[in-house]
Amino acid sequence: MGSERQPSYSPKTHNQSWSRLLPYMLRQQRLLFLLLGIAIATSVFTLLPSSSSTLTHAVSVSDSEFMYPQPSLYPVSFNMGGKIPLALKPKGLRIVVTGGAGFVGSHLVDRLIARGDSVIVVDNFFTGNKDNVMHHFGNPRFELIRHDVVEPLLLEVDQIYHLACPASPVHYKFNPSHKTNVVGTLNMLGLAKRVGARFLLTSTSEVYGDPLQHPQVETYWGNVNPIGVRSCYDEGKRTAETLTMDYHRGAGVEVRIARIFNTYGPRMCIDDGRVVSNFVAQALRKEPLTVYGDGKQTRSFQYVSDLVEGLMRLMEGEHVGPFNLGNPGEFTMLELAQVVQETIDPNAKIEFKPNTEDDPHKRKPDITKAKELLGWKPKVPLRKGLPMMVSDFRQRIFGDQKNPTAATTTTTA
Ligand SMILES: NC(=O)c1ccc[n+]([C@@H]2O[C@H](COP(=O)([O-])OP(=O)(O)OC[C@H]3O[C@@H](n4cnc5c(N)ncnc54)[C@H](O)[C@@H]3O)[C@@H](O)[C@H]2O)c1
Repeated sequence: MGSERQPSYSPKTHNQSWSRLLPYMLRQQRLLFLLLGIAIATSVFTLLPSSSSTLTHAVSVSDSEFMYPQPSLYPVSFNMGGKIPLALKPKGLRIVVTGGAGFVGSHLVDRLIARGDSVIVVDNFFTGNKDNVMHHFGNPRFELIRHDVVEPLLLEVDQIYHLACPASPVHYKFNPSHKTNVVGTLNMLGLAKRVGARFLLTSTSEVYGDPLQHPQVETYWGNVNPIGVRSCYDEGKRTAETLTMDYHRGAGVEVRIARIFNTYGPRMCIDDGRVVSNFVAQALRKEPLTVYGDGKQTRSFQYVSDLVEGLMRLMEGEHVGPFNLGNPGEFTMLELAQVVQETIDPNAKIEFKPNTEDDPHKRKPDITKAKELLGWKPKVPLRKGLPMMVSDFRQRIFGDQKNPTAATTTTTA
């Protein structure tokens, strides 16, 4: 037993195993299959991001710094990153217009869509209306999201026109707009910062308050009552301007600020208490035109197509602003009432009522800066613009015109 010899163990060397493996694989064509597998895997991983890049998806953010993918809440198409085949790239810009279902916003949307851009309207319909944009329903370059801007929102866009805010005293006194102006603007600036979009704020001549300087130049700091009934709007917009400049200086966000003076035109809210819409609706309904105070306070009235042209020039230009956008033609309330009488009903009566609190006495823009740096000036005089608004109001009050999309800005600058 002890003398029985065990076969000695000799481990296989690497050389031996490779020298056997290679001829074996080659013989069985396994190397070919291995290479084929690697090639297929490589092409799958290379192509995967592009195929998911145009998903219809929604993303929300819980605060201004973090974002979480959410289940599909809104029908928003946007680029999820990765390579987009050239043929699928949109030709125009991707633009969000907050408050785009409102008076000014809807005219702006018309111009952007006509230019070839893709537009997402974000609106909570507090003062806006789907009717203002429904002629774009079905257009693949148009999307509408019901959303309150006081809640964060993430969209992949190139430009943000931030208009969302109730603009008439009737509405902002009913639902004070400070939160919309402050939190809403903060959210939209956060979005601009995150996606690298250019941001335009529609501020207002109300930042000048009851001005002690006339006409108002952009360098004038204003005379605002910080605790008055209008302060939610006036101070809200002033804070919005401050936030806009903070994000510009502190975070390098590209911003633009427009200070809009009284604007009128088709699609204005009919009973919102703004003086032009008030007079026009009253004259059409054969009611007396209400003049508050002695009627000698002045305003300047800009037709909406002029404003939209100014906003677009500002957005596309190189200057931050702020820029006054308004028509320097100055009218007293009584003069405006006369123009409305001439346009609608020469027999319309005028009724005087006590003036409202903090109503500014004078308002007239100095637009030298916009003329020089934006090459912009208003072109539509009141007597030409008013009839276009009147026909829209007549249709909406009495339903006596056939074409429901007639309320467009037929006059462009
Ligand atoms: N029209 C003017 O004479 C005038 C003058 C100065 C400034 N502006 C500014 O221009 C912008 C547009 O004004 P407008 O005249 O078209 O007013 P508008 O009331 O017709 O439009 C405002 C739009 O914003 C929406 N909105 C309001 N709060 C919102 C919120 N929290 N979230 C989402 N959407 C909201 C409304 O539903 C509406 O569609 C406003 O920012 C306003 O302050 C207008």
